[in-house]
Amino acid sequence: MFKKLNILDEKEKSLRKKSVEATLPISDEYKKIIKQIIDELTYSQIEELAEKYDLRPGMGLAFPQLGINERIIVIVHEVDDGKFDEYVVVNPKIISYSSEMIAAEAGEGCLSVNRDVDGHVKRHARVTIEGYDINGNKIKIRAREELAIAFQHEIDHLDGILFYDRIDKNHRFYGEYELRLI
Ligand code: NI
Repeated sequence: MFKKLNILDEKEKSLRKKSVEATLPISDEYKKIIKQIIDELTYSQIEELAEKYDLRPGMGLAFPQLGINERIIVIVHEVDDGKFDEYVVVNPKIISYSSEMIAAEAGEGCLSVNRDVDGHVKRHARVTIEGYDINGNKIKIRAREELAIAFQHEIDHLDGILFYDRIDKNHRFYGEYELRLI
């Protein structure tokens, strides 16, 4: 039976805390939570199931959004119609990034932010992430475009940052000549 996660709303103060490094290898309890997150993010991106379970589409979630202030992120990226790549990174770090910046043209959303926030969020177009898988093996991921945005968004959660913190209040939207919009 599918059980929905209890995702914290932005009003929750713990979302603003800096999370601590997670202990490796990951406990069975956390592995179970990770599996639940993957299921929910996947279902949320399949229209029929999203409707059935009343899920808002989302491609990423960070542990602090469940009230666990430890550095673990999960991303489920739809690479083709109905085909998903899953990423679970423990203690992720961005070790290099492009100087080129981009933004999601439609803006970003967050499963903890239950309202629309208008504005472009400037992100690096490409990032390289280092971290660990759930068994404690070191991993390195190169991400670009939408996936790069997702990693930056989720890693921000580990530092208590929400996407709208990065929207320039005096310049909410960029034109194509100022910033590449994807
Ligand atoms: Ni978020």
